[in-house]
Parts: sequence; structure tokens; C-alpha cells
Amino acid sequence: MQDLEKEGSQPKTWSGRFSEPVAEMVQKFTASISFDKRLAEFDIQGSLAHASMLHSVGLLSRADLDSIETGMQSILAEIREGRFEWSIELEDVHLNIEKRLTALVGDAGKRLHTARSRNDQVATDIRLFMREAIDGIVESIKALQHALLDLAEQHADTVMPGFTHLQVAQPVSFGHHLMAYFEMLDRDRERMQDARRRLNRLPLGSAALAGSSYPIDRAKVARMLGFEGVCENSLDAVSDRDFAIEFCASSSILMTHLSRFSEELILWMNPGFGFIDLADRFCTGSSIMPQKKNPDVPELVRGKTGRVNGHLVSLLTLMKSQPLAYNKDNQEDKEPLFDAVDTVSTSLRIFAEMVPGIKVNRDAMRLAASRGFATATDLADYLVKKGLPFRDAHEAVAKAVRHCEMKGCDLSDLPLNELKSLCPLVEQDVYEVLTLEGSLKSRDHIGGTAPHQVRGAITRARSRLA
Ligand code: ARG
Repeated sequence: MQDLEKEGSQPKTWSGRFSEPVAEMVQKFTASISFDKRLAEFDIQGSLAHASMLHSVGLLSRADLDSIETGMQSILAEIREGRFEWSIELEDVHLNIEKRLTALVGDAGKRLHTARSRNDQVATDIRLFMREAIDGIVESIKALQHALLDLAEQHADTVMPGFTHLQVAQPVSFGHHLMAYFEMLDRDRERMQDARRRLNRLPLGSAALAGSSYPIDRAKVARMLGFEGVCENSLDAVSDRDFAIEFCASSSILMTHLSRFSEELILWMNPGFGFIDLADRFCTGSSIMPQKKNPDVPELVRGKTGRVNGHLVSLLTLMKSQPLAYNKDNQEDKEPLFDAVDTVSTSLRIFAEMVPGIKVNRDAMRLAASRGFATATDLADYLVKKGLPFRDAHEAVAKAVRHCEMKGCDLSDLPLNELKSLCPLVEQDVYEVLTLEGSLKSRDHIGGTAPHQVRGAITRARSRLA
């Protein structure tokens, strides 16, 4: 210890058994304070609950508990006001706060770590952090879902071409198309809530790995911190980060949904489609091409999806070869996790703001739907309803399409006698099914694109969100 002081370096909390100070490069390499200070408020919450429990089981005097509580209040204020001096020599958020507490209140600060290890401490902090992060993300998903519902409601009757293979397939309601994303986001929301439920268990009390020899009351700490229960196995509690992996997996899926939506917005804004325009405040220009208006926001969200996928792979790889129980590898969980939280949160928030400003060009959507024989399936179904086997109907309509292609017209432009010569069972009423509205209206069941079904889906969705 004296040697350490001679080097001018502060002795470490754990350096009692060491004969030389840690090398400076190792100190830098192993420290996590630059990023885990983000956990500070959760660390304090956990410590206060722990201290209160220590007092209730007789391991900490009333006076010590009071000192710890007052000291933590000052520390909290220092952190919030940006006055707290984080030191890399103190390695991480836990030791920084503990050291400051001891400086402020003396021996009571040194007693706080009774029956606790940084291993169960950090596992608790991350879970508290995740809980709050997920709650924020769930609210942002809901905000985006509301925005989609409002736009879908305005466009239940708006006809657009539905695509398969990005080729015109069948007409759909634009509202129906938007509601597809509502459903994806609803599952994302469920996945987030489900992940939250599973991670909402208290690791504290597991200590370093084997549990504690003190008469601790884990259930009390769990209650104080709002956990649903305690982690059942101490080795598992300090070691596994599956909840972080699960969160990143759910985030990757969510970002994949946003990425698909982004891709569509980008395509639709291209003049070749001309289906939509994004509000100017969500676009940027080009420094060389004066005419440009670029959909940067959806492009970036599409790009950031890769980043979140990367975090998922980082965490899976981080965990895969770790023997039980805690290993320092786990310190590497924080940066990917924090960045995944930030990326998902901002992407959702910016989308929720952008969606209400989408300007829809109904005419362009309609025109695109009226080209490409979007109602060919309707004609085949019509013939089947008149008694033709489906395969024969398919063949007859395919010929009619070819005929139209040669003539350069749509199916609905063919006069009845021409249509009859190609599809024998056709009568005057065929023109109803050849219209875009007729096609939409006929898909009249739950999950179908008939505008009144879309409105029903929106009403049900609103009550699901409430
Ligand atoms: N900074 C560490 C982490 O994030 C805290 C736990 C350290 N535990 C230890 N035994 N070195 O994982």
C-alpha cells in the first residue's frame, strides 16, 4: 500500500493484495466509467434499497442509514447539476459513487457494500435501466401507431396498387397498407413488454456469485425497487445477459419493420411512383444539385437498422463462450445496449413526427393501380362464380391481358363483345368487378382490404391501443 502511494497513484478499492499499481494503459483499458456513468441514478436507487434492507435486518445502524441517504441525495444533485467529478482511477460508476459517498459521510459509506458485490450491483443497475428504457420505447411505439391510425383513417378509401415482387398485383386501400405496419409495430410492442416482464427480477443478494452469508431480505429489496420477484439462482443472476440480448433481438425486428417502411417511403417519393411527398422539414437538399429533395430520415433509419443488428450480434458473441459466473467480458454489454436503446428511441420518435406530415397523391396512386391489370384476378374470380373452373378462368384472363397489352388498353376498356370472345361467360355486370373500387369492396372479410373492413380494423386497433 505504501508503495502504491509512493507512485503517486491512489490505492484501488481492491488493491490490498497487489504489490504494484495497475499500469496506466490497463487502467484505461479496463475502466468503464466513460460509458457506465449513464447508470448512476439506477446505481443510487439500488444502493438506497440495499442500505434500507441492511438496516431492517440489523446490519446497518439507523444513523449509518441516515448518513447514506443524505450522502446519496448530495451525490444525486452533483450528478444532475454536472458537478460530480468522475474519475477513471475509480474504474466504474459503482466505485466512483461509493468513494464519493465515503468522502461525504465517512464510515457509513464503507459499510454500504456489506453483503453486496459489484457483480450483482451492475446486474441490478442494467435491469433498472432497461425497464425505464423499454417503458419509453413502448410509449414511442404507441405514438407512431397513433400516427399510422390517423393517416390510415383518412385513406381507407384511397386506392393504390398492391405489389408482389414489386410488380402491380391487386388494388389495395392505402389505409390497409398502412395498417400492415400498425400490426408489425403492435407485435414489436408486445415483444418489448414481454422482455420487460422477464427482466424484471432482482439480482441483488447474489453477491459475487454464490449468494451472501448475511441474513439478507431479498424480497424486501425487490419490492422496494419494483421488481416482480428475485432471480432464483445467484450464478445465473450475476452472469447472464440474455435480457439484453432479447431486447436487442426485439429491437432488430422493430428496426427491420421501420426499415421496410423507410424503403417504401423512399420509393413512393421517387417521381416514378410519385405516391407521396414528405414534409420539407424531414428532408434535406443537395449541395450540388439544386433540384434535390432527399428523404434522409427514412434512409438513415434504414441504415441504422444495420447498426442495431450489429449490436445484437455483439451481445450474442459476447455471451457465447463465457463460463459461469460473472466475467469481465460482461462489461462490454453496455455500449451496444445503450446505443440500441438510443437508436430505436430516436428512430421511433422521428417517425412518429414524420408520418402525420406525409402528403398523399391519391391521383398518382390511382393511376398506378389502373395500369398493370390489377383487376385481372377479379375477372378470373368473376368467371369462376359463373361456373368456369379456376384454371380455365386463369387461362382465359391471361389471354385477355395479352390482347390488351397489344391494343395498349386496360381490361375495363374492352367492349363487351371483345371481352366475350375471349372469356365466354362474361356479361354486362363484369364492368363492376373490373373497377378498382369494385375490386377493393369485394374483399370484404376481416383482414381484407374492403374500405369498410379497413375502418373496422382501425376501430379495433384504437381500442387495443387505449
Ligand atoms: N464495471 C463492471 C461491469 O460493468 C462492474 C462489475 C465489475 N465486477 C468485477 N468483479 N470486476 O461489468
